[in-house]
Amino acid sequence: MRLDKFVCKSTELTRIEAIQQINCGEVSVNGHIATNEATQVHENNTIMLNGVRLKARDFRYILMHKPAGTICSNIDEGYPSLFNYLDVEKASELHIAGRLDADTTGMVLITDDGRWSFNITVPTKECSKVYRVGLSNAIADDVAFKFNKGVKLQGEQQLTLPATLEVIGPKEVLLTITEGKFHQVKRMFAAVGNRVVSLHREEIGEICLDVEVGQWRYLTNGEVQSFTK
Ligand code: URA
Repeated sequence: MRLDKFVCKSTELTRIEAIQQINCGEVSVNGHIATNEATQVHENNTIMLNGVRLKARDFRYILMHKPAGTICSNIDEGYPSLFNYLDVEKASELHIAGRLDADTTGMVLITDDGRWSFNITVPTKECSKVYRVGLSNAIADDVAFKFNKGVKLQGEQQLTLPATLEVIGPKEVLLTITEGKFHQVKRMFAAVGNRVVSLHREEIGEICLDVEVGQWRYLTNGEVQSFTK
């Protein structure tokens, strides 16, 4: 990791303040002053700021219940950012592992650990996401079969990966997918002549959504580990 990022992660300093401290010669790595903020460091290195050893803050792993009408972005852009609901320090360092559309509700996982979120979002890891879907038309009998085989989304070359459909009612289903293409669920139902009218993510991997709308909690160690198996 870059030295300025490490200093930032382990103190209350902003990135700019961290760079200033480094450039001024206030930071040492393994006993040597390091004035270049791009210096690569490891958590095992002895990194001191003004003579005090820095310890990298642990990564953060958060589950949130996204309200409708919010966006999965760090800033408000047309809609309010869901980070407005997250009262934690340095929220700008966090990112969302698998974004939802503004009108979609449900579970989002938020972290500053890029390697961990990769396990959730990359299709080869086969991390399942369960969506409760409301439809404009009654579900046709052959849709479960088609989704299991894979459907061609508009503008895509390859078929979608095998997905599981559970019919709850004529216009309500649970869909389990392991990939997250742009508007994937809406485009899958469009591909079979239907239309999504409501979309809610209930589960990611082994974790079920268990907080109220707009609420959040930290994941347990076990939950964090469940994505690295
Ligand atoms: N698929 C969609 O179409 N939208 C979402 O928000 C998530 C999955």
